Amino acid sequence: MLEKLAEIKSKAIDELSSLSDLRELEAWRVRYLGKKSELTQILRGLASLPLEERKAVSASANELKAFFETSHRENKESLKERAYQEMEAATVGRQITLPTGIPSAETFGIPDVTLPGRPIPLGRLHPTTQMLCRICDIFVALGFQVVEGPEVEWDYYNFEALNIPPDHPARDMFATFWIETESGQRPMLLRTHTSPMQIRVMERTQPPVRVVVPGKVYRYEATDATHESMFYQIEGLAVDEHTTFSDLKGTLYEFAKRLFGEERRVRFRCDYFPFVEPGVEMAIDCMACGGSGCRLCSGTGWIEILGAGMVHPDVLRRVNYDPEVYTGFAFGLGLERIPMLLYGIDDIRLFYSNDLRFLRQF
Ligand code: PHE
Repeated sequence: MLEKLAEIKSKAIDELSSLSDLRELEAWRVRYLGKKSELTQILRGLASLPLEERKAVSASANELKAFFETSHRENKESLKERAYQEMEAATVGRQITLPTGIPSAETFGIPDVTLPGRPIPLGRLHPTTQMLCRICDIFVALGFQVVEGPEVEWDYYNFEALNIPPDHPARDMFATFWIETESGQRPMLLRTHTSPMQIRVMERTQPPVRVVVPGKVYRYEATDATHESMFYQIEGLAVDEHTTFSDLKGTLYEFAKRLFGEERRVRFRCDYFPFVEPGVEMAIDCMACGGSGCRLCSGTGWIEILGAGMVHPDVLRRVNYDPEVYTGFAFGLGLERIPMLLYGIDDIRLFYSNDLRFLRQF
């Protein structure tokens, strides 16, 4: 019996040295330590041996078992290490560093290179950004350039140069976030609309001017389903010789058709903005009811989209454009309103409250 054990041992050691991976090691373990292994059989049969022999065999068999167990453990470690190294060698040059906190292959024990990769979560564009790109694309196709301007603005550009002097009642149209300035410094604010960029652009360039200006604007107002203290506007400005009100109507009609569909109708009605004359408001026929009146259009059949008008001669004079030579039109539209109408979103606050359940829908 003792000879038998020695034989098992030498065979096992032999095989052990030629193992090349963890799967073979597992087969080895089953062969020498498993329920049906010779060693287990011998240990089981101990009771039936005469006392003297039992003592000797038992000591030797248990020693062998312990030896096999240690060998198994040690070989497992070294084979695992070898597998890692091979895997690493195969990925040299395209190694990525995992952010801390994400479990590494080691955590899972045996590396399995056939496992599907861990998904990398993909981001998406915010619905506002998407709509902004869509609208800018339309105007770019119509020959406009896209420019951006500062959100912290001088009173001069936001009001004064746009024909809204201090104490002008039109200031009430814009509840303003003022910025604290030293006494004697010119007053500053968060722009209440994108119109100050009309002035900045004209100050720096000569006609012909054709720009659209997307950007954030701020209003000091209580928020509710239709009001946010920060939202987006897109401003448009076109100035040249012979630019007429027909150009304004044609451009905005084309825009409405491209954004809302070929069958859309538009309506222009008089409106007042100090920096345009005449001023208008443009509406499209309600896409929900086609004009017969519903909840979306509050029963009127029309949905107001933007404010516009012919640039006021006094505004042109401010930037040293001769109003006898140059004329222009301008428009400004609130951006969030458009996806709200198109997708039936009933609360503007959803846009900026960072709820992924909302944002992931777009
Ligand atoms: N700036 C105006 C607003 O915020 C919109 C507008 C822009 C109107 C340009 C006319 C021309 O209400």
